[in-house]
Amino acid sequence: MEVRRATVDDIDVMAHVLATVAEEGTLGTEPPVDLEVRGQRFRELIEGQGPSAMWVLEDGGRVLGNASVSETRTSGVLTLGMAILAEARGRGGGRRLLEAILEHARSQGAHKVELEAWTDNARAIALYVSTGFEVEGLRRNHYRRRDGSLRSTLLMAVLLDTSEPEPA
Ligand SMILES: CC(C)(COP(=O)(O)OP(=O)(O)OC[C@H]1O[C@@H](n2cnc3c(N)ncnc32)[C@H](O)[C@@H]1OP(=O)(O)O)[C@@H](O)C(=O)NCCC(=O)NCCS
Repeated sequence: MEVRRATVDDIDVMAHVLATVAEEGTLGTEPPVDLEVRGQRFRELIEGQGPSAMWVLEDGGRVLGNASVSETRTSGVLTLGMAILAEARGRGGGRRLLEAILEHARSQGAHKVELEAWTDNARAIALYVSTGFEVEGLRRNHYRRRDGSLRSTLLMAVLLDTSEPEPA
């Protein structure tokens, strides 16, 4: 398996990967995924200016997963999302995507990479912690899902610039 930057030629297959993974409920995105809208969003991430970027995880030319970062709310803070098809998990692909993201974030001068994960997403949380992410907060019963349930997330982040620690 290898990780490379995504191109516009990957947009359709990446949208299908996201739609497949969304069916599990592990992502914030709920099914059914609008492939056209999602594809447009991916295009903006790939072609846009600034630190936004996308990567694909592929094996033998087949795209098995993708990851993205974008500067959503705060300058210098990149928000990440990632999804790998169930059949391709547990083989280090998630770790490789994260390494590519962190290398990119550093090269862009970002000071933090952040994400949100469902509190019961043990696999993802374990991977993030092992890569240096820390829990910054809990959003308790924050998200109402289409089935009416309320779900909680962990706010997680990794600091890339620790040169100016907060005053005690
Ligand atoms: C999260 C995700 C991207 C990780 O990808 P992956 O290919 O499984 O990740 P890796 O194989 O690189 O690493 C997984 C790590 O979690 C560990 N792990 C696997 N299953 C686990 C479980 N049930 N509980 C805790 N840890 C687990 C593995 O041991 C591995 O750690 P290691 O490298 O030290 O052995 C992938 O599982 C996925 O796409 N899940 C569905 C979508 C999702 O949850 N996206 C993230 C939303 S925040």
